[in-house]
Amino acid sequence: MRQLLKSTLAVCALLLLAGLARAEVILTPDEIEQTLAHGPWPAVQAPDPSNRVSGNQRAINLGRRLFEDPILSRDGFMSCATCHQPDQNFTEGLPRSMGRKLLDRNTPALLNLRAHRWFGWGGDSDNLWAQTMLPILHPDEMDNTADNIKATMERGPYASDYRLLFGHAATQSSETVLVNVAKTLAAYQETLMTGNTSFDRFRDALERGDALAASSYPRSAQRGLKLFLGKGRCAFCHSGPNFTNGEFHDAGVPYFLGPGRVDAGRHAGLKTLLSSPYALDGAFSDDPHKSGAWAVRSVIPTHANFGTFRVPSLRRIAQTAPYMHDGSLADLDAVVAHYNEINTERLHADGEQLLRPLNLSSQDKEDLVTFLKSLSDD
Ligand code: HEC
Ligand code: HEC
Repeated sequence: MRQLLKSTLAVCALLLLAGLARAEVILTPDEIEQTLAHGPWPAVQAPDPSNRVSGNQRAINLGRRLFEDPILSRDGFMSCATCHQPDQNFTEGLPRSMGRKLLDRNTPALLNLRAHRWFGWGGDSDNLWAQTMLPILHPDEMDNTADNIKATMERGPYASDYRLLFGHAATQSSETVLVNVAKTLAAYQETLMTGNTSFDRFRDALERGDALAASSYPRSAQRGLKLFLGKGRCAFCHSGPNFTNGEFHDAGVPYFLGPGRVDAGRHAGLKTLLSSPYALDGAFSDDPHKSGAWAVRSVIPTHANFGTFRVPSLRRIAQTAPYMHDGSLADLDAVVAHYNEINTERLHADGEQLLRPLNLSSQDKEDLVTFLKSLSDD
């Protein structure tokens, strides 16, 4: 009996010790400070002032139906959802998108879009509704015309919803109808947001000074976070609550597309942006103050833009493989290996001094992946 009591006590003590070893915050005060900058989440989301139906429930409903309806393509061949599949976090799950032919880039997830200033891998647009018009008109994608879209909104199954929001399509120019349709699609896409993650619960507990709650975030994820903030230098580019600084960098992904063809990234995006009549400084913005338009006016294309791509958000990253603008990395292990072994010879943009081989142990790599996985909501 005594023996049994003794061994029970010993087991209890062991369990307690194991629990304590697990239950610990291993970040330095400096790292805690940096961690707080990656929240709070969800971020407060204001309606888009350039889109007068942003946040409007009727527009959101119409946008949702249009998103999944191939009626927006020239021949009924594809909808937005053909590539941005709702049950796949609005990705296509393929390395490169399959439009009417194989496209050059990966289909990005459509999540937390209100948090971005620039849209598309190369930043073709400075607002969501302008970005939304590109695939509708692109010959390799939906290949439609503004005239067709207007005809669809005059008579088709959406005519009455359209009229309630914007008035009779018949009395408007084709271009205006196309912009309005894009604004309903944008209103819908703005609602696609990711929720609270185990990382967010950790971060919020640190903010409250609740060490007990913070300690339920696994040690391995905490070690990964330390690497993310420190040695890995990831947080320089993947900064803030949405884990992106929203700007364009060269992460060492090859940009050759084939003999004589390169993906110029931001360099090409800027050309599209600066010649677009649909930018925030244009007549189609509904914002009388033209807020945010300064950004497009202040960009000056330079050689350094060549082959840079927008830093992706890392929220729900574990669910949106494959990775990078060309979908060339199949999983998060491959991404971490890419940064670990980065070929600095390959970095072409001037002054991208942040990246260098990291010399991570296999435990480090595992920890970094565990951390990245903690950025997904359940
Ligand atoms: C043929 C496949 C395909 C179709 C159809 C398609 N997309 Fe995309 N989408 C892509 C690809 C590929 C990209 C990346 C484009 C780039 O950056 O050059 C993209 C990018 C985007 C972006 C930018 C996201 C970001 O994070 O900046 C938005 C928004 C978007 N698409 C919305 C739509 C909407 C709305 C529709 C329907 C009107 C649509 N797409 C139709 C493949 C597609
Ligand atoms: C110099 C800025 C910079 C740094 C530092 C950086 N990244 Fe990135 N990251 C990018 C850019 C830019 C891309 C997209 C590159 C492309 O598609 O060509 C990217 C892509 C990614 C992706 C794929 C996202 C997707 O949706 O395809 C992941 C995951 C990622 N980075 C994680 C990390 C981690 C982990 C670190 C640290 C080891 C890190 N990054 C450091 C800029 C950076």
